[in-house]
Amino acid sequence: MMDGSAGTSEVLGCSDAGSQKDRVVTAEEWRQKWATGNTGFHKEQVHPLLQKYLDVLLNGRSGLRIFFPLCGKAVEMKWLADMGHNVVGVEVSEQALKEFFTEQSLPYCEEPVPEISGAKKFQSASGNISLYCCSIYDLSSSIVGKFDGVWDRGALVAVNPRDRQRYVSLMITLLEKNSSYLLVTVAYDPNKHKGPPFYVPESEIKTLFGNYCEIKCLQKRDDFSDRHRQWGLDYFLEVIYILRFIS
Ligand SMILES: C[S@@+](CC[C@H](N)C(=O)[O-])C[C@H]1O[C@@H](n2cnc3c(N)ncnc32)[C@H](O)[C@@H]1O
Repeated sequence: MMDGSAGTSEVLGCSDAGSQKDRVVTAEEWRQKWATGNTGFHKEQVHPLLQKYLDVLLNGRSGLRIFFPLCGKAVEMKWLADMGHNVVGVEVSEQALKEFFTEQSLPYCEEPVPEISGAKKFQSASGNISLYCCSIYDLSSSIVGKFDGVWDRGALVAVNPRDRQRYVSLMITLLEKNSSYLLVTVAYDPNKHKGPPFYVPESEIKTLFGNYCEIKCLQKRDDFSDRHRQWGLDYFLEVIYILRFIS
């Protein structure tokens, strides 16, 4: 385990991310990944960094509205809902959302979203998990309201590099004052893998979010596995930040 201070990992993570800047993965390609089971990003267990830093996200509060951008079928949505929080997610793959409710044994209903052509909202019968099936860029605070917390894992790093500024600008409009945002990024040599996930260096996190919040790197963690070796990498780190939006 590494801490948030500069070290070998940070040096390793400083390769040129420019090699990925023109890469585009379309919504249809994402839906295809779900259709063909090419979803190695999905984890069956609650992310250890969310477990570890849950108190940092909650910051003494209970009954939060928590947003999951690009949610897939993240098991953390049920985990947080079971603790009494209200969870809202957005995902372009209807298959992913249906699999979420089925695999978590949660009855749900679905309805159209009048403001967004073609979009659907899937809601758990208990009402505390609402998942929108549409592009995140179709959402606004008038449709989904504002949030006290965000779990961003596999989200900013999955956004096409050219859309990062748009994604962050939208996220900021969805946040309440005093909200907390746990952001997980990845660090590897971007010259060796085209992404996603894309490499977003700490300097870019500061450029994207720095005008709106305090940013603290909480931990860098070795997450190297066979999957990453097959991509041609020789190191792979997860980096978690807490962003605190004061105003
Ligand atoms: C890397 S996966 C991560 C899923 C989830 N956050 C997790 O931790 O397992 C990225 C997800 O974003 C979805 N996605 C990609 N572009 C999107 C967009 N513009 N709006 C909503 N969802 C999108 C993909 O279908 C995919 O399920």
